[in-house]
Amino acid sequence: MKLANKVALVTGGTSGIGLETAKLFRDEGAKVVVIGSSEQRLKEAQDALGENGVALRADLRDPAQIDKAIAEVVETYGAIDIVFANAGAAKAAPFDAVTPEQFDDQFALNVSGLFFTIQKSALHLRDGGSIVVTTSFLNTVGTPGLSILSATKAAVRSLVRSIGAELAPRGIRVNAVSPGPIDTPFASKLGLPEEDLRKSGEALVAAVPLKRAGHASEVAKAVLFLASDDASYVTGAELVVDGGLTQI
Ligand SMILES: NC(=O)c1ccc[n+]([C@@H]2O[C@H](COP(=O)([O-])OP(=O)(O)OC[C@H]3O[C@@H](n4cnc5c(N)ncnc54)[C@H](OP(=O)(O)O)[C@@H]3O)[C@@H](O)[C@H]2O)c1
Repeated sequence: MKLANKVALVTGGTSGIGLETAKLFRDEGAKVVVIGSSEQRLKEAQDALGENGVALRADLRDPAQIDKAIAEVVETYGAIDIVFANAGAAKAAPFDAVTPEQFDDQFALNVSGLFFTIQKSALHLRDGGSIVVTTSFLNTVGTPGLSILSATKAAVRSLVRSIGAELAPRGIRVNAVSPGPIDTPFASKLGLPEEDLRKSGEALVAAVPLKRAGHASEVAKAVLFLASDDASYVTGAELVVDGGLTQI
């Protein structure tokens, strides 16, 4: 049990990478709180996690809802040991068609939501705690139609270093996991026509040296490593889980 007696907060823990990680954290002995915004997915996550999980509703684009959710976690468990700031979403659009609303919406969730989740939970993190965030292979490449999503992930990569520097004196480590194409509902929410989605998905997988999309469970294991004492001397880093896409 790598996380016995730990309390872990997982944003975006109702689907895909977050849900797989929440289940793995629970199996390793943690009490897990997942945050999502859809009532239906929250119910399903609560059922999947059972008695060692709590599913909380918050729209992370709204800092007041983050405050309320963290307050609930602290009221229930007293303190937090692990934060996996993972919630993210995007809409695809060529850069000359991106609207101010689309720009703000993606930054509100992927950057501001992540930043204030970490800021508010850090007040309640036990010294020696661990923060892991989800970046993306997109922060190192240029992909048509994904300029805003990619920029949010590059911003988050930078935050790992800055917040890592500020929390290091408390022994709190801050790291990123950087997934490649992972089989989750994420891409289906980009707003692309089905045929375009299929073609771009196939082209992306063809560019992966391991020639397949990854499974959420493969990312979850990397997050567990970073969150646990196995990574006790690792901070400010980004662990790439992308089948070699950005590395080979
Ligand atoms: N899948 C990939 O290929 C891939 C590749 C690189 C990076 N990533 C990153 O991995 C992370 C997880 O994505 P995933 O693939 O697991 O996608 P996913 O299955 O779509 O999960 C996204 C999660 O974020 C939550 N979320 C979305 N908007 C929210 C909001 N406004 N407030 C609170 N929660 C919100 C969703 O909950 P609700 O639906 O309940 O709102 C869901 O739990 C994201 O940051 C994504 O950018 C994914």
